Amino acid sequence: MTDNIQSIQNEAVAGINAANDERSLEEARVAFLGKKGTLASASAGMKDVAKEDKPAFGAALNKARNAITQALETKTKELQILADKKSVAGIDLTLPPRELAAGGLHPLTIIKDRAIQILRRMGFALADGPEIETEYHCFDALNTPHDHPARNEKDTFYFDGGKLLRTHTSSVQIRTMENNTPPVRIIAPGSAYRRDDVDATHLPVFNQLEGLYVDQDVKLGDLKGTLEYFLQAMFGDDTEVRFRPHFFPFTEPSFEIDVKLKIDGQEPKWIEVAGCGMVDPAVFSSISSQRGDQAFNPESITGYAFGMGLDRLAMIQWGIKDIRPLIENDTRFLQQFS
Ligand code: PHE
Repeated sequence: MTDNIQSIQNEAVAGINAANDERSLEEARVAFLGKKGTLASASAGMKDVAKEDKPAFGAALNKARNAITQALETKTKELQILADKKSVAGIDLTLPPRELAAGGLHPLTIIKDRAIQILRRMGFALADGPEIETEYHCFDALNTPHDHPARNEKDTFYFDGGKLLRTHTSSVQIRTMENNTPPVRIIAPGSAYRRDDVDATHLPVFNQLEGLYVDQDVKLGDLKGTLEYFLQAMFGDDTEVRFRPHFFPFTEPSFEIDVKLKIDGQEPKWIEVAGCGMVDPAVFSSISSQRGDQAFNPESITGYAFGMGLDRLAMIQWGIKDIRPLIENDTRFLQQFS
């Protein structure tokens, strides 16, 4: 009987050692250790063993079970190591890894951050307003008559119900004056929308930076000095700046500001970067009647406002001739700036 168990053990260990994959190993385990396996049927023979032989028989069974279990464990480990080796076969672990591209700031973000930094040093605080605006904030409160071309459906994106995508950030001037009292000195960067055809200098969505300064005795010279200083801080002390008389419904007098763009090997040319002017007293009167107080009484305060094109500033900063790549997200273009 005990010899029989020894031969089961030998057979099992040999079978296990011969297994060359997980499946045949599992089959061997079931065959020898399973409920209906060889060892189980051998232990069933215990009842036929003479009483004095039972301890020896039991010991032989235990020894066989331990030996088989041990052989299974060893073989499982062996097969695992083989499988691991196989899964990395052909992979050259000494190869350098694929390069991870580092992220960078978008050129418009770089320009916006720099502009904000310079203007904050000059005492301007950040303000903002919604991109979906009322006609009141975008036009009426800015002294823009109903028949003004900017209000035309061909030029402006209207929603049902009369709201619109703001055509300029000047609406933030109104929202700021509704909720603050002079002195007011704010800047508001943000998107503006117009139904322009896409070309090298126009996009239907572009970026502006609005400025408003209202106090006692704010003068045209303050506006000119501030913006000249700003543009030279942005682009260098030798930057040439020109103020051209213009018309805006909400400023009087009004100007457009040009900066001379110099690209190596090219004829320098003036690029328009901003509109500006002294806040029209009609705007203060309208705000005053809206507020119902005298905080913005045009008899006692004056102010200036400006609206710069951030995309234009980026074009000047880096000599970018076409505005379109600024929204196309082509990393070959963008990675030049970060
Ligand atoms: N809102 C004007 C535009 O978009 C620019 C501007 C802002 C002009 C403030 C004067 C004062 O063209």
